[in-house]
Amino acid sequence: MLRVGFIGWRGMVGSVLMKRMQDSQDFKKLNAVFFSTSAVGGVAPDMGQKQKTLLDAYDIKALLNLDCIVTTQGGDYTNKVMPQLKDAGFKGFFVDASSALRVSDESILILDPINYSQIVNGIKSGTKIYSGSNCTVSLMLLAISGLLKHNLVEWVNSQTYQAASGAGANNMRELLSQCGVMHEVVAKDLQDKNPDILDIDRKVSAILHSKQLPTEYFGAPLAGNVLPWIDSGLDNGQTKEEWKGMVEANKILGFAPNTLKIDGNCVRVGSLRSHSQALTIKLKDGKASLDEIEDIIKSGNEWVRFVKNNKPDTLKYLTPVSVNGTLDIAVGRVRKLNLGDDYLSIFTVGDQLLWGAAEPIRRMINILVEYA
Ligand code: HSE
Repeated sequence: MLRVGFIGWRGMVGSVLMKRMQDSQDFKKLNAVFFSTSAVGGVAPDMGQKQKTLLDAYDIKALLNLDCIVTTQGGDYTNKVMPQLKDAGFKGFFVDASSALRVSDESILILDPINYSQIVNGIKSGTKIYSGSNCTVSLMLLAISGLLKHNLVEWVNSQTYQAASGAGANNMRELLSQCGVMHEVVAKDLQDKNPDILDIDRKVSAILHSKQLPTEYFGAPLAGNVLPWIDSGLDNGQTKEEWKGMVEANKILGFAPNTLKIDGNCVRVGSLRSHSQALTIKLKDGKASLDEIEDIIKSGNEWVRFVKNNKPDTLKYLTPVSVNGTLDIAVGRVRKLNLGDDYLSIFTVGDQLLWGAAEPIRRMINILVEYA
């Protein structure tokens, strides 16, 4: 059985991965070893494995014994450990949820409903590094995979509405704390039968501008606000999150860099764990009717859940709340824009922690169990 070491299993993406692997009985198919960066020698989670204590995640000798390292620990860990593993001649697979090795020529990006054969060919031809892709990229490609398979997409403009979870557990907590502070300042006013809304607005605005609101992680209020900046900035005016869209999508699709043009604004909003995106798609051929486009979108993969373009269905099925905790890729608000028949508008929502992070990693482990 494949000896698979898990690092970062206690973190947010790691915990979601552990739960999915337990629910899917994946641990029965492999020999798990749990590592820690902070609690070496402690008790490992019980997944029925032989190794009951936590090994040191920085112990290169211990890592060398593995057939596969799965890390959801983050990019700093990968950047620290990978050079040492290479020097020590590590021959196993490295499955990484972080962005550290995504653009490396030595890595394949994992999103097997889209690039299964690229992954399997990679395993067979000796590629050892498999990186999880950026969440918005994975969720977008899953949403439009039918259109891509039919070679209908000329370019994509994406406007994202990214949940707090994409920034981390501390950010999720901070958003909720901000909501609490904001509510508290007007809780009494809200009990009035006929409160003065402008007075409420003044109080809320004052608290949002004050130092009483926790902003350590976001650097600004997210509650009652939107933050149109995610990750670092680049010289061309994009943020790194925006840059990832085209770079990673083309790599996943096996295209030469920049073949499929993708760009737009990435925006943090106050939803908790599912990312939404409004896509404007320039079709190569605008002849297809909306009914045909619906069929094409539905045919993309088994997780696409098509939502009819009406208000009740949209509010019920095309929101972060409706998708949270599921593997559904909701796709709706599908219509041709008044710009012309070639311009398609789509709104899509997917869980950032599942298809956006843990699920491609879980499925990659299973592919390795089968082929490695
Ligand atoms: N960079 C993403 C975000 C996380 O900030 O939402 C998912 O890759």
